[in-house]
Amino acid sequence: MNVTSAEFITSSTEVSMCPKEPLPEYAFIGRSNVGKSSLINMLTGRKKLARTSATPGKTRLINHYRINDSWFLADLPGYGFAKFSKKERETLEKLVRRYALERKNLVSFFVLVDSRIPPRPIDLDFVRWLGENRVPFVIVFTKTDKVNQRVRSLHRKLLEEALSEQWAELPLILESSAVKGTGREEILGFIAQTNEALH
Ligand code: GTP
Ligand code: MG
Repeated sequence: MNVTSAEFITSSTEVSMCPKEPLPEYAFIGRSNVGKSSLINMLTGRKKLARTSATPGKTRLINHYRINDSWFLADLPGYGFAKFSKKERETLEKLVRRYALERKNLVSFFVLVDSRIPPRPIDLDFVRWLGENRVPFVIVFTKTDKVNQRVRSLHRKLLEEALSEQWAELPLILESSAVKGTGREEILGFIAQTNEALH
């Protein structure tokens, strides 16, 4: 898929504020600082579309982008950021869960997981919750340029083992690097195929 247009539409603090156009929507989620905003910029080829930062906790709202005038990409606040107050973490977590359950045009989550570290309980818990609520998702293993092949394979194996305790069939796992552009075709290809199937 070629990205011919990518526009920021709006930031929402509530699901009811999200755009009303009934376009298929893909939501990017994952631990704070995992690389959600960077991946969105890499996919769209627009360096400054989503704000990125070395400081975790940059994205605190639901940000909507309309791609090729035909689908939405939603950048969600990261979970598990220790420096947020407990109350703020809970507020954001509830927002994400309401979004997952209430957003009617949501097609799939992309759950981003950092390839540099072994899978964390918080990621596995979130994925389990999606499963229990029958929300479709794909996993994206991020920042693969920062680890060597051996460590990446080990972390992927650990992730697959943890997931196979939850799932009879493993979910789709794609690998990405926002720096190198790795995974762009696979992720956009998945979205294009899914959009096609919805027609
Ligand atoms: P929050 O909005 O705070 O939850 O973070 P986020 O998940 O949107 O992460 P963001 O895209 O802002 O990236 C966090 C940091 O990781 C930034 O310093 C990025 O430059 C860096 N980063 C993101 N993706 C990659 C990648 O694929 N490779 C490398 N080397 N660095 C990356
Ligand atoms: Mg962000």
